Amino acid sequence: MTASPHSDPEPVVRFDNVGMRYGRGPEILRDLSFDLPRGSFQFLTGPSGAGKTSLLKLIYLAAKPSRGLISCFGRDVATLPRDELPDLRRRIGVVFQEFRLLNHLSVFDNVSLPLRVAGKKRSEYAEDVAELLAWVGLGDKMSALPPTLSGGEQQRVAIARAVVGQPEILIADEPTGNVDPEMGMRLLRLFAELNKLGTTIVIATHDLQLVRMVDAPVMTLANGHLHIRPPRSQRQREAELREAERRDADDRPTATVPMGPEPSAQDAADDLDDEDPMDAVARAMEMPDEDDTDDGEDRDA
Ligand SMILES: Nc1ncnc2c1ncn2[C@@H]1O[C@H](COP(=O)(O)OP(=O)(O)OP(=O)(O)O)[C@@H](O)[C@H]1O
Ligand SMILES: [Mg+2]
Repeated sequence: MTASPHSDPEPVVRFDNVGMRYGRGPEILRDLSFDLPRGSFQFLTGPSGAGKTSLLKLIYLAAKPSRGLISCFGRDVATLPRDELPDLRRRIGVVFQEFRLLNHLSVFDNVSLPLRVAGKKRSEYAEDVAELLAWVGLGDKMSALPPTLSGGEQQRVAIARAVVGQPEILIADEPTGNVDPEMGMRLLRLFAELNKLGTTIVIATHDLQLVRMVDAPVMTLANGHLHIRPPRSQRQREAELREAERRDADDRPTATVPMGPEPSAQDAADDLDDEDPMDAVARAMEMPDEDDTDDGEDRDA
């Protein structure tokens, strides 16, 4: 399932002609219409200042649109009673671009926070939190305070905190901006695992390397508008279909000109991606992992 213009009867998030401006400033997002189908995975990209963080804020209900309709979990956010907002927000995990960790709490306590808020006891989650922290390479930093960590370490704490409660939607704003490529891949695997468990995922990133690793739609913001490129597999299927139609047409004795649409500039740009045959995340997830033998199994949260 993919981000798409209104195809899912019950998407987790729906935008219908949404516009957004800050105060009396110009509209920074214009005419956004798309669905996030339940259980889908998509990237959000675009140049700095294009509005990625602003779009994510709309999705995680931290900002309101200036026009248009947004529904989240089937609820129109414009008419949502104030006291219902916290409950909806708890169903969404967010990795903030600037982390937003609580500096006076240990790494362990930061990550446990969503579970404590949900009323769980320490004995119920301590093992899972420790396992998750070990998985993101912070097993020996559980009692550290965030200000004593590097940027990449803080980023991993923020990610662990966002995923620990297995939210229904995960919004991650540049979640690999501060880590090396190897750790970036590892974190991407974590998101893919969460997605397999049913979480709808949106990852804002500048990292095209990361984007190429997953066969997922790419939402691109530019000049306030959103373009959605279907996943590679879908584009390949469509190209094969066009090719088959062209061959059919060629086989017809009366046909003198090739049928089918001319390849557009967009097709040409899209095809560049196809040169990379790797679907490393999918592959990596099938490979046994030397330091995580039960990887791929259910992670109890
Ligand atoms: N709180 C705010 N008040 C006024 N303008 C804002 C505010 N936040 C963002 N903007 C403006 O909105 C536009 C989009 O900003 P946004 O942070 O959404 O971009 P972005 O795509 O996330 O950029 P980056 O890749 O640098 O994180 C920018 O022009 C920015 O200056
Ligand atoms: Mg941003």
